[in-house]
Amino acid sequence: MESIDIGVDALRDWLESGRPVTVLDIRPAVEREEWSIPGSLHLDPHVALRTNAASPFAGVSLPPGQPVVAVCARGNTSLLAVRALRERGVQALSLKGGMKAWSLAWNLAEVTPIRSNAQIIQVRRTGKGCLSYIVGSGSEAAVVDASVDPDIYLRIAKERGFTITHVIDTHVHADHLSRSRPLAERSQAKVYLPAQDRTTYPFLPLKEGDTITIGASKIQALHTPGHTLESTSYLVDGRALLTGDTLFPGAVGRPDLAANAVEARQRAHTLYGTLQRIIKLPPDTWILPCHTSEPIPFDGKACGAALADVIRQVEMLRATEEGFVETLLSRIPATPPHHLEIVRLNESGAFPQGDPTELEAGANRCAIS
Ligand SMILES: [Fe+2]
Repeated sequence: MESIDIGVDALRDWLESGRPVTVLDIRPAVEREEWSIPGSLHLDPHVALRTNAASPFAGVSLPPGQPVVAVCARGNTSLLAVRALRERGVQALSLKGGMKAWSLAWNLAEVTPIRSNAQIIQVRRTGKGCLSYIVGSGSEAAVVDASVDPDIYLRIAKERGFTITHVIDTHVHADHLSRSRPLAERSQAKVYLPAQDRTTYPFLPLKEGDTITIGASKIQALHTPGHTLESTSYLVDGRALLTGDTLFPGAVGRPDLAANAVEARQRAHTLYGTLQRIIKLPPDTWILPCHTSEPIPFDGKACGAALADVIRQVEMLRATEEGFVETLLSRIPATPPHHLEIVRLNESGAFPQGDPTELEAGANRCAIS
């Protein structure tokens, strides 16, 4: 029997290869505001579908000659949509597991321009907005801020002739479950984390000025506290700075997660000092964060920017310390759902059995612009 649904991996492959497909998001508009699949069309036939209206897609025109993939929150209502579309002769499929499952989809971008010995590959969790990095040189690679299935990093590294020798995080994450520990176990690499006493599983600590050698490349640790106290950025060959959630192309990190109001204010002051230090790096330093608040298209374009452009873009970087702190604290967004539970798991290194997407639901909310 002809399949009525399509899995996340298959749709991911279609989008990455540029195969013509119409992704039809049928969730209510308020859910779409939170996150969506880039390039998707939106229709909200929920009521019509649920009430068995005769023609929920009456009058709707869809691009001809290409399949339609209907997407809802969990892959149930989209099955109804597929039936209704097929009755109209549309070649329709339902995304299995809906947006919840799509949370794990990923794509890649090469980071350019960079004058270094390293190949930097940005591995992006497209729905969730998590950015991770494979920094490869010679036959070795480090993975920074792993956020997708360990097998994906292992496969990409192998395809490019790298062995993963180092697995590194910029900080204890609150938005997603770190895949660094499971990746280290699978790759027999060591886990390197900023020196701190939050994490309770064994790791190798990185402190200010420590340097890791990957092939002909050097990764230097810069302690950049503020988003969290241990937050550390990694400077690759003096050219690219993996900033975690400290600095984004258009925003700065939030100082309040897993902190009370007094601690958040202290961290905001600390972040000011950190950012003042970062903006003194060479203006062509490439700033590469570990999250983005927008779903990431399958465009192969790395999320990142030259420091000079970041300084132009982020007004808060030009504020006084008092102005910075007051602005930052006045713009704190809603906290990510389940963030305390995620922090607890990341500190203990206990990756939950089964489906992690329930805990990680929703878009990232790490940045303040
Ligand atoms: Fe974070």
